[in-house]
Amino acid sequence: MPTQDLSGTTALVTGASRGFGRAIAIALSAHGAHVVGVARDHARLEEVRAQLGGTFTPVAADATDPVVAGQLLDKYRPRTLVLNAGAAPLARPIHRQTWQTFSRNWEVDVQHVFNWTREALLLPLRPGSVVIAISSGAAVNGSPLSGGYAGAKAAIRFIASYAAAESGRNALGIRFTAVLPQLTPETDLGAAAVAAYAARQGVDIPAFLEGRDPALTPEQVGTAIVDIAAGSGDDRDASLLTAAGLSPVR
Ligand SMILES: NC(=O)c1ccc[n+]([C@@H]2O[C@H](COP(=O)([O-])OP(=O)(O)OC[C@H]3O[C@@H](n4cnc5c(N)ncnc54)[C@H](OP(=O)(O)O)[C@@H]3O)[C@@H](O)[C@H]2O)c1
Repeated sequence: MPTQDLSGTTALVTGASRGFGRAIAIALSAHGAHVVGVARDHARLEEVRAQLGGTFTPVAADATDPVVAGQLLDKYRPRTLVLNAGAAPLARPIHRQTWQTFSRNWEVDVQHVFNWTREALLLPLRPGSVVIAISSGAAVNGSPLSGGYAGAKAAIRFIASYAAAESGRNALGIRFTAVLPQLTPETDLGAAAVAAYAARQGVDIPAFLEGRDPALTPEQVGTAIVDIAAGSGDDRDASLLTAAGLSPVR
């Protein structure tokens, strides 16, 4: 349960146009935050604004651009920064990747977390701010049909923990943490991955999902991010996220 009121605070969410990021923006807005949402697809961001009204400011931009990161942090100084943007990996086994497809999630996901984290430390954000980087359960379990995705998501977890240490060392008072959501078919990215793993096993998607844990929903992701943003009290560098909620990474 949230322990701090987010009313009147500013949150900035990358990848807010759809999937987890959109749900995170909606959840933060529902808890009183003004949300700045960054993504490339202007039309989809406008849909979020139509839903949330004046509590949402859309910014159509490439979140990997370091200038975008620096300018938006300067301008909005968010109390809550959610680094969620990510590229859909090419769903192919390792020998059918090229270096360009293998490294896609390094170029997008990792580069953006690196740039925004760096700017958050250099600015620095105000004491009491929190930076939440979206990693993946794949960082622990691997993802053999996703090229460099799992390694990229592991790097994001490390970046968050390194930044947490720097924040502590310099008494900045900024919390940095990583969230590792379980694979779910409930977003574009997750649906493509689930379809690829089902095809690999020679089964259809319902058969692949049968007997597995209940699917994590974007709404549950939004709730978990609000809990972390509002300060659930634990200082974990990283948490797994399933439909059952947040838990320590083993
Ligand atoms: N779904 C899962 O099963 C799952 C599991 C674990 C972790 N994750 C992670 O959770 C995050 C969100 O995933 P999702 O499933 O919600 O994916 P999604 O539905 O494909 O959404 C991805 C979001 O990232 C944005 N984005 C991509 N490249 C961008 C860029 N260069 N600049 C700005 N925005 C960019 C997209 O917006 P535009 O295209 O409009 O730019 C979109 O809003 C990702 O980091 C993903 O790796 C997902």
